[in-house]
Amino acid sequence: MKILFVCLGNICRSPLAEELFRKNYTLAGLGNFFTTDSCGTGNWHQGELPDRRTRETALERGVELRHRARQIKQIDFDTFDLLLVMDQNNLKDVLRLNPGMKHKIKLIGELSEKYKNQEVPDPYYGEKPDFVFVHEMLDHITSEIVHQFKP
Ligand code: 4NP
Repeated sequence: MKILFVCLGNICRSPLAEELFRKNYTLAGLGNFFTTDSCGTGNWHQGELPDRRTRETALERGVELRHRARQIKQIDFDTFDLLLVMDQNNLKDVLRLNPGMKHKIKLIGELSEKYKNQEVPDPYYGEKPDFVFVHEMLDHITSEIVHQFKP
């Protein structure tokens, strides 16, 4: 099963979601079943590593982020089984790019019991606690996703 995480810049939330999902499915022994990637609806950070604050917060928790930012492209709607977006703006933008693929596009919070239907807040203009909150939220939700879709 192929899951693509999508945010705005692809430097804070979605590259972290991707790596935490990878960590959680690998821990569950499901490295042959799942694959993942991430992208942004915007292209301002194309080719960049994730935000330094996102990388530091992750590294303090044993997770190294090496993703390079990229913008979403039409082929992604065919390649992936599920596109999980972080907030309502991402949802609107991604749906507008390919309304026919509505069935593959979901707000990530829809897949969580704990954070039911919540948006993952953009930490870009925030402080350290905002990055820690996003990390803990995405670690929890991506683990819920592993257990929801595992074979
Ligand atoms: P992300 O956060 O969507 O979680 O990667 C952002 C990163 C950069 C910008 C906005 C959001 N920006 O405006 O540059």
